[in-house]
Amino acid sequence: MIPQEKKRSWAEPYKMKMVELLKTTNRAQRLKAIREAGYNTFLLKSADVYIDLLTDSGTNAMSDRQWSAFMLGDEAYAGSESYFKLEAAIHKYYGYKYVIPTHQGRGAENILSQIMIKKGQYVPGNMYFTTTRVHQELAGGIFADIIIDEAHDPNNLHPFKGNVDLQKLDELVKKHGASKIAYVTLASNVNMAGGQPFSMQNLKELHTYTRVHGISIIHDMTRVAENAYFIQQREPGYLKKTIQEIVREICNLTDGATMSAKKDALVNIGGFMATNDPTVFEEARNLVVVYEGLHTYGGLAGRDMEAMAVGIKESVDDNHQRARIGQVIYLGEKMSQYGIPIVRPIGGHGIFVDAMAFLPHLSQDQFPAQALAAEIYLDSGVRTMERGIVSAGRNAQGQNYYPKLELVRFTIPRRVYTQAHMDVVAESAALVFQRRKRINGLKMTYEPKYLRFFQARFEKL
Ligand code: F0G
Repeated sequence: MIPQEKKRSWAEPYKMKMVELLKTTNRAQRLKAIREAGYNTFLLKSADVYIDLLTDSGTNAMSDRQWSAFMLGDEAYAGSESYFKLEAAIHKYYGYKYVIPTHQGRGAENILSQIMIKKGQYVPGNMYFTTTRVHQELAGGIFADIIIDEAHDPNNLHPFKGNVDLQKLDELVKKHGASKIAYVTLASNVNMAGGQPFSMQNLKELHTYTRVHGISIIHDMTRVAENAYFIQQREPGYLKKTIQEIVREICNLTDGATMSAKKDALVNIGGFMATNDPTVFEEARNLVVVYEGLHTYGGLAGRDMEAMAVGIKESVDDNHQRARIGQVIYLGEKMSQYGIPIVRPIGGHGIFVDAMAFLPHLSQDQFPAQALAAEIYLDSGVRTMERGIVSAGRNAQGQNYYPKLELVRFTIPRRVYTQAHMDVVAESAALVFQRRKRINGLKMTYEPKYLRFFQARFEKL
């Protein structure tokens, strides 16, 4: 059938100039590899992986323009030319006044948390993120989840599951007083919820509320352009606006930001902290020297900052986001057709499989998502990751968090794989789904103290 004018297909707004050859393995090799990795996909060697959907972080393909900018890197210790290009890109596309580069997102989270959190203060946020919460806790803060309830339900079709529940925030403020709130963390395209956006309407309401109570909004802008794409597509009045305009509007309604540039901004390493507050900036400029490096490089090479400046520009291109998220939706629809339970609506950076619905015979203490990720690797060499009870970790009293979402994340790197790779991935998930009743749970045999999901080890039950 000839498609309707409005429904023409998207295609990647680039073509390939260089390719990276993939490695394949057989089942016996994969069984050995996953056992040696303690059933943790983070501990696999990438040489044993075929299609790597562990993360979209630092795994993007850079463009020819980014690579050529790389060669212009000014590697001066102080006052690097490349820093000023990065600063200019951040001013232009995001609009924050002051910028501190860091080696990656968590470097920014560390510095910001240390400056802005006083011991015993609450840090409300639209769902936790692993590294963000750990830095808040190490700084003496207490995280409070203020995302809307719909976000915790994989089947709820709310178009903006990243929204803040203002009533939850108001209850917290009424109970403890605004002075006990360090700031609100607002993540765009909430990772742990399945890559779910907030709406501009919700952000405007949050902005108004926080102005009344004198509370800052700190934007975890790791995936801001992906959030902007969903606003453009779903929110009344935004279809005619460009992603560049929407990104700027989001940033303008927030007071500062932490950024892992390894996602949206299309680089392999890098991040920054930004603020509009001169006192916070002054302190950050002091502290960055202790943890990252001088304030004009923050742990990055000049060439990294060059590539980031170009990547920021490319990330707000409408055709780029249409193809990027188009590919994610393609994989999700395909998996749905096979009957695989996934988080809906389909999010921005990957497909999140509902492991509790996939493996209903396992209890959460048997780590269903961890077990499923291992099983998919075993089937095809496709590497995914757990986003459930292992990632959630323990609270300050040492008790396990039991997150409502027990997910396996099929995370899609930007500009790396083709639609045919997505077919192979979906087929592997479907074949594992067919024999799901025979999949056993796991027991944890080694548990690290911080961010346990990275290095924990398991055995088959
Ligand atoms: N915030 C969000 C929302 C993230 O997704 C990440 C990283 C960070 C902060 C930390 O940034 O890794 O540069 O230090 N997420 C990666 C992931 C690790 O796989 O989702 P970082």
